[in-house]
Amino acid sequence: TVAPSAAGRIELSHIQGIPLLERVVKYWPRVEKFQASEEDLLIATYPKAGTTWTQEVVDSILNEGDVEKCKRAPTQVRMPFLEMTAPDGSSSGITKLEVMDPPRVIKTHLPIQLVPRSFWDAGCKVIYMARNPKDTVVSYYHFDRMHLYQPEPTVHYSICLVLCKMGILGWGSWYDHVKGYWKERHNKKILYILYEDMKEDPVREVTRIAQFLKRQLSKSTIEHIVQMTAFSAMRENPMANYSTIPDTIFDRTASEFMRKGEVGDWKNHFSAGEDAAFEEHYRKIMSDCPIPIRFTI
Ligand code: A3P
Repeated sequence: TVAPSAAGRIELSHIQGIPLLERVVKYWPRVEKFQASEEDLLIATYPKAGTTWTQEVVDSILNEGDVEKCKRAPTQVRMPFLEMTAPDGSSSGITKLEVMDPPRVIKTHLPIQLVPRSFWDAGCKVIYMARNPKDTVVSYYHFDRMHLYQPEPTVHYSICLVLCKMGILGWGSWYDHVKGYWKERHNKKILYILYEDMKEDPVREVTRIAQFLKRQLSKSTIEHIVQMTAFSAMRENPMANYSTIPDTIFDRTASEFMRKGEVGDWKNHFSAGEDAAFEEHYRKIMSDCPIPIRFTI
């Protein structure tokens, strides 16, 4: 096992200017040449945007709400993480995918320009979930405190500062990420969903996802899926809550993976001044790309 160094946690490396974990960069060539098949589905997100939630919703739809089938294995086995390699190098998204037959559901945090070409050549469907950047960064901050193989959260609790320079976090700038998929959503088969919309009306959003996947589900199955994938249910589900990740990787004394699952937790972390500074910055940077992202519901 590669232990975090005594001097601190790991550093980030870069691919085409995007900061990524060193172990992602190390194995990049095999990610880049991954062969997707037309039936594969890609779930793409910026880290902490609700990836695991989207994955569980998709798996539940594909299995028509069959709880036992969805509990066949942990999230990372059912829906491998394309570019990720375990800290000790023992397994990776690619090695898992290589032994799975399409249709596969594949998770990625890659910005659109780094998604392997074969996904576009094959015409794969993509579900992209975005979450407002204030809650995303709060969640990321707590995740970095817990995940011993992520870089140390650099700016202690001055989250706003990190936010304004978000290009420094793993997988790059939040802004570029959400805009990249938004701008391509009509040119490619991308369903763009928002965390806040899903929180507000999960029946509506799960229905949209089912339609995108061409699955006809009854109203009661949709409602059942909404219950199965609610934060409270996923938190108790060992196949959906990452409890299979060992404590040597997730320091659960620092934070939990299933932490709060709310819209607006940022209010507990930003002062009025930090928030105003962020809002000004946000409005400017998003002015060319009107994604209807909400900070409260
Ligand atoms: P918080 O840290 O704000 O609680 P990802 O899966 O992309 O890493 O995102 C993790 C975030 O999604 C965490 O946010 C986690 O609690 C939240 N989450 C996970 N499952 C959820 C669910 N069913 N409903 C709402 N939020 C969920």
